[in-house]
Amino acid sequence: MRKFSGLPLLLAAVPFAAVHAASTPPAPPTQLGLCAACHGEDGHARIPGAPNLAGQPYAYLLQALHEYRNGERKVPVMRAATGPLSEQDMQALAHWFAAQSPCPPGQAGGP
Ligand code: HEC
Repeated sequence: MRKFSGLPLLLAAVPFAAVHAASTPPAPPTQLGLCAACHGEDGHARIPGAPNLAGQPYAYLLQALHEYRNGERKVPVMRAATGPLSEQDMQALAHWFAAQSPCPPGQAGGP
């Protein structure tokens, strides 16, 4: 009897593993290298003044990229960064950063 005591625990862990696999972030977008120096590959900002992108809503990130590109938000570095991006690139990047784990509060480089 005693030697089976670990079994219920093991079975309980299986559904969790399946859920975890389903929520795995998408593959890194091809243009991620254009953003990583300032925003980090994981969306955790690397330089002062660059906002953390991790975990922000997809629609918000995509709209921000559109606004930098069409000049509604006048920020030269972001205008330059969005210049070479196609619509698909911007969607892939917004999707990627939205799927990253948010930064803990108080981390340096926040918005
Ligand atoms: C040279 C540094 C630099 C690079 C490279 C860069 N960014 Fe930024 N980004 C910034 C800064 C600084 C801001 C804040 C601008 C502002 O005040 O609106 C910003 C803002 C943003 C925002 C708005 C976030 C918010 O909370 O409103 C998004 C989205 C974003 N960047 C995405 C990207 C993506 C995607 C790339 C790559 C294609 C990229 N950035 C490349 C520096 C950079």
